[in-house]
Amino acid sequence: MSIIDQLAAIESAALASLHDITTIDALTAWKSDYLGKTGLIAKLSRELGALAAADRPAAGQRFNAVRASLDGAFAEREATVNAAAQGHAFASEALDVTLPGRPLTVGRLHPSTRVLRMITNIFAEMGFQVWESPEVETDTLNFELLNIPADHPARDMWDTFYIETPPGAEKVLLRTHTSPGQIHAMRAHAPNPVRVILPGKCFRYEQVSTRHEMMFHQVEGIAVGTNITFSDLKGTLIGFAERLYGSGIKTRFRPSYFPFTEPSVELDVECILCSGTGCRICKHSGWLEVSGAGMVHPDVLRNGGYDPAIYSGFAFGMGPERITMLRHGIDDIRWFFSGDERFLQQFI
Ligand code: DAH
Repeated sequence: MSIIDQLAAIESAALASLHDITTIDALTAWKSDYLGKTGLIAKLSRELGALAAADRPAAGQRFNAVRASLDGAFAEREATVNAAAQGHAFASEALDVTLPGRPLTVGRLHPSTRVLRMITNIFAEMGFQVWESPEVETDTLNFELLNIPADHPARDMWDTFYIETPPGAEKVLLRTHTSPGQIHAMRAHAPNPVRVILPGKCFRYEQVSTRHEMMFHQVEGIAVGTNITFSDLKGTLIGFAERLYGSGIKTRFRPSYFPFTEPSVELDVECILCSGTGCRICKHSGWLEVSGAGMVHPDVLRNGGYDPAIYSGFAFGMGPERITMLRHGIDDIRWFFSGDERFLQQFI
C-alpha cells in the first residue's frame, strides 16, 4: 500500500474513532495516538524520505492537509465533549430554587412567664413596684412573722420542704408562698408607705396531681400607708380583673380565712369559659377563684415595722398558673413544667 493510501486509511480510522469519543481523557489519548510526536501520522511521515524526490512535495502537502483536517475534527469534538461535560455538571449540581427553606425554630416565652409579665404590667400601671424576695426562707419569715405559729392548725395549709440544718439552728425551708416577701418589703420601707408586688416561685411538699404541683408561681401584693381601707383593696383587685379579663367582667368577694389578714377574702371572677352559666372548669359554680386577699393583720404590720394604730394596708396573693389554666382551659397543671414541647409550642 502506498504511503498516501496508508495516510488515507489512518485518516478515516481516526475520524471514525473520534466520532465515538465522549470523554476528555479519551480525546487526549486519541490526540497522542494520531497527532502526537510518536503518533501514527508522525511515524508514517518518516517514510516520506523513501519516496522519489518528485513525489515528495505532493505527499508532504497531503500530510499537512490530513493533519489540518484531524486538528479541525479534534477541535470540534473537543467542543462537543466539553459542552456535554458542562451540561452534565450543571444538571448534577443543580439547585432546586423552588424547594421550600427549612424553617428556623423560634424560641418563645413560657406561658407562666407571659402571664407573669401581663400581671406585673397591670400592677405597674396601678403604681406598684416589682420586688423580689428569696426562695429559701426561714421558718420565722415564712410562718411565724405572718401570724402562723408552730402549732397553729393553719400550718396544714402549707405542706413544706424543710432544708437540713444543724440541731438547734433556725429552721430553713423552701418558701411555701410569696407572703414572706410582705415582711421583707415592709421592713425595707417602714415607716414610709409601700406598694409592691412580689412575683416568684413557691414550693410545696405535695402529692402532684392535675391541680397541684410541687413548684409553681405566685404574685404577692402589699400596700401599706395611712388611710388605706378595704375599698382600696376592692378597687385595686377589681381594676386588675378588668384589665386582665376585659372591662365589664363580673367579680365578687367571698369571706375567707388567712392568718396574716383580717378580714380575709377571696376574689372570684365570673367564669370566662361559660360566662357564668356553669361548666366543668368552674365546677358548675359559674365563678373562678383568682386571688386570696385581705387587710394586713395588725400583728403582721407590727412585724413589718409599722404601728397598726397609725398604719393600715392590704395584701393579696394569686397563682399565675391557675390564671393561665383558666384563660386557656388547661386541665392539668403538670403540663407547665413537664418540658413537653407539644404543650409549649401552643403559646406563640
Ligand atoms: N399566701 C397565701 C397562699 O399561699 C395566698 C394569700 C392569701 C396571700 C391572702 C395574701 C393574702 O397576701 O392576703 O395560699
